[in-house]
Amino acid sequence: MHEKSIDLLNTSVADELHAVHQYMYFHFHCDDQGYDLLASLFKRTAIEEMMHIELLADRILFLNGEVELATDEAVKKEHDVKKMLEIAKGMEESSAKAYNKFAMECAQNYDSATKQLFEQLVADEERHWNQYDDETENLGRFGDSYLTLQAIERSKTNAGGGAA
Ligand SMILES: [Fe+2]
Ligand SMILES: [Fe+2]
Repeated sequence: MHEKSIDLLNTSVADELHAVHQYMYFHFHCDDQGYDLLASLFKRTAIEEMMHIELLADRILFLNGEVELATDEAVKKEHDVKKMLEIAKGMEESSAKAYNKFAMECAQNYDSATKQLFEQLVADEERHWNQYDDETENLGRFGDSYLTLQAIERSKTNAGGGAA
């Protein structure tokens, strides 16, 4: 009865799984370069995307479907912070767009609960987009000093507050 919804939910699980992988990849590399603020933003967002998978999976099981935990998209091996943020913004934009469309499709199929789930995800993805956009703006305004500052903060923390 809700085959179409199950399809849309599984398509979304794949999208979210790719986001978890991609953002954790960015997290590792920001962390490696000493950019703690961005590293933690990517990690926090990856965790939120993982929680989206849980919401989607719960709904699939409720509809008696099978959860396809598969992603067909490879992680982009990008190490440049500005490009990471560009990729992340593009991903959030495309997820929000897809979920808006899926919500409409669920409404047409008389599946209000799945529609509401997709609407909730749209709001989250728009918020993620906005966070990445703020960081892009900071990077644009302050340039390399924005990143240098993050690396200095890391050194200060590691040095135990600089007490000598
Ligand atoms: Fe998500
Ligand atoms: Fe997101």
